[in-house]
Amino acid sequence: MNNRPLQGKTFLVTGGAGFIGSHLCQRLLSGGARIINVDDYNNFYDPRIKEDNVRGFLKDSETFIDCRVDIRDAHALADVFATWGSQVDQVIHLAARAGVRPSLMEPQLYLETNVNGTLNLLEQMRRHDIRKMVFASSSSVYGNRTDPPFREDQDISKPVSPYAATKAMGENLLHTYSHLYGMQVVALRFFTVYGARQRPDLAIHKFTRLIDQGQPIQMFGDGSTLRDYTYIEDILDGITGAIKYDKTPFEVFNLGESQPVTLKRLIEVLEHTLGKCAIIDRQPLQPGDVMMTCADISKARQHLGYNPHTRIEDGIPHFVDWYRQTVPAAAILT
Ligand SMILES: NC(=O)c1ccc[n+]([C@@H]2O[C@H](COP(=O)([O-])OP(=O)(O)OC[C@H]3O[C@@H](n4cnc5c(N)ncnc54)[C@H](O)[C@@H]3O)[C@@H](O)[C@H]2O)c1
Repeated sequence: MNNRPLQGKTFLVTGGAGFIGSHLCQRLLSGGARIINVDDYNNFYDPRIKEDNVRGFLKDSETFIDCRVDIRDAHALADVFATWGSQVDQVIHLAARAGVRPSLMEPQLYLETNVNGTLNLLEQMRRHDIRKMVFASSSSVYGNRTDPPFREDQDISKPVSPYAATKAMGENLLHTYSHLYGMQVVALRFFTVYGARQRPDLAIHKFTRLIDQGQPIQMFGDGSTLRDYTYIEDILDGITGAIKYDKTPFEVFNLGESQPVTLKRLIEVLEHTLGKCAIIDRQPLQPGDVMMTCADISKARQHLGYNPHTRIEDGIPHFVDWYRQTVPAAAILT
């Protein structure tokens, strides 16, 4: 990829200490960009994992400025923008309460973070005349569709979890600010992302740990649910494409692999890669879960130069390599 558009640019990244965020920071820093990271290092999973994710970046305080701020706190966010706002070229907004199932337990927290937090950011951008945001949306906005592949112009008015509803609301807010204030916004609908440093609550990471330790894994449903698993490097290509994109004021793009895989097949690939058999504890499908995700990526291919190429048979071994290297730390932290 041509990294020149990143050289000398300043990005305010929210959630830069998280799984996707820390990979993105790495990509931006290696392209010569500077980062203002806004992350509250909350305990959705062990904050020490997030601290580890950014430890290397903190060595250069000129290029990576770390602001421990909660995006729900409008005053604290205003202070960040008062200090750095005039230097920011784009905001890459990844901070969120992620995950479908936990959103059923704490819907208020999801709403406050993913909707009010997004509004707080947009307000600061308006005040400081920052013209562009790239936003992490989610495949979950498509709800329980069974007519793959999912296209960006399809109806997203029927989300089936609080998490999905908050991501759809986030997209709506982005459109509103783009319309009212002429901001350029790009919403990226990520389809289940995996790779090194993946969140410990996500299936690939959780299953790897449990199979490796000889413990049972909970398989929800009969294993036929389909997910479009997307490798982190492919997602980063999509995000950098969105950073460069400047054709229209408001646009939504799917970022998936467009190769859905059944849960059963995922477990087989993990077993094969780990060289161990899974002990399967079958459970009913969980409320909020969807039967399938599958991205139509023709729009991102055309406009972002997005060209994902990682099958799970290739990506899972990379993930497991990382897992094995970090297993002593992971055992302590999860
Ligand atoms: N990982 C996936 O498969 C996936 C799929 C679809 C969408 N997404 C979206 O991508 C983004 C990144 O996901 P991830 O998997 O890297 O998750 P993550 O939890 O690893 O990263 C999110 C980061 O945001 C920070 N954060 C959360 N609430 C905050 C707040 N109130 N103030 C400041 N910082 C806060 C967290 O501390 C964390 O470092 C999220 O918006 C998520 O909804 C992820």
